[in-house]
Amino acid sequence: MNPLIAIDGPAGSGKSTIARAVATRLGLSHLDTGAMYRAVTLLVLEAALALDDGEGAARLAREMDLECNERVVVNGRDVTAEIRTPAVDGAVSRVAAHPAVRRELVARQREWGRVHGGGVVEGRDIGTVVFPGADLKVYLTADPLERARRREAQLSVGDEQLSSQAVAAELSRRDSLDSSRAASPLLVAEDAVVVDSTHLSVDDVVEEVLSHL
Ligand code: DC
Repeated sequence: MNPLIAIDGPAGSGKSTIARAVATRLGLSHLDTGAMYRAVTLLVLEAALALDDGEGAARLAREMDLECNERVVVNGRDVTAEIRTPAVDGAVSRVAAHPAVRRELVARQREWGRVHGGGVVEGRDIGTVVFPGADLKVYLTADPLERARRREAQLSVGDEQLSSQAVAAELSRRDSLDSSRAASPLLVAEDAVVVDSTHLSVDDVVEEVLSHL
């Protein structure tokens, strides 16, 4: 049986980079649950559903065929790039707030953990809701300006250029929606190790995480 490591935190805290690096170091599988919420959001946008239509979104979630590995494949289509567009960024917090959508994706996440016998799972509610019995819970955070800077660096690799202010505003809007929603808000689990990555390199954060295992 492999360990189950939960990595939660706000947007831009470096979760994906750290989760992937920790998984590689330990030879474990990695699951990005944010990509799952993004995949449902893409389907909602394509179906032109209203963002407050929780039942419609949940139906799309239940019916979708989803592979979430290096590439994200929904109903046979590679959507790895499409789930990272500003349109999805702008809508994902509203889709992820529907309890029926969360029920379906949480069930799939638990099934993933069972099939893989552990792994590194990143998201917002992994240590609090999805895997409350995780072997290690990490809450990764960073200063809002640093998070906006990282997010901006990621975006400028694509063709969409946004001002620093717009990036910071978008992150803080998403944080407050993710933290204030009724269903499984972003919270620090009581038994989580809190790591502030503002002044740390990727290697430093990975070492810190591994030191708690
Ligand atoms: O990690 P990310 O930024 O790609 O996640 C996208 C959105 O999905 C995020 O704004 C909130 C939601 N999310 C969630 O509600 N629960 C999770 N476990 C992971 C992501």
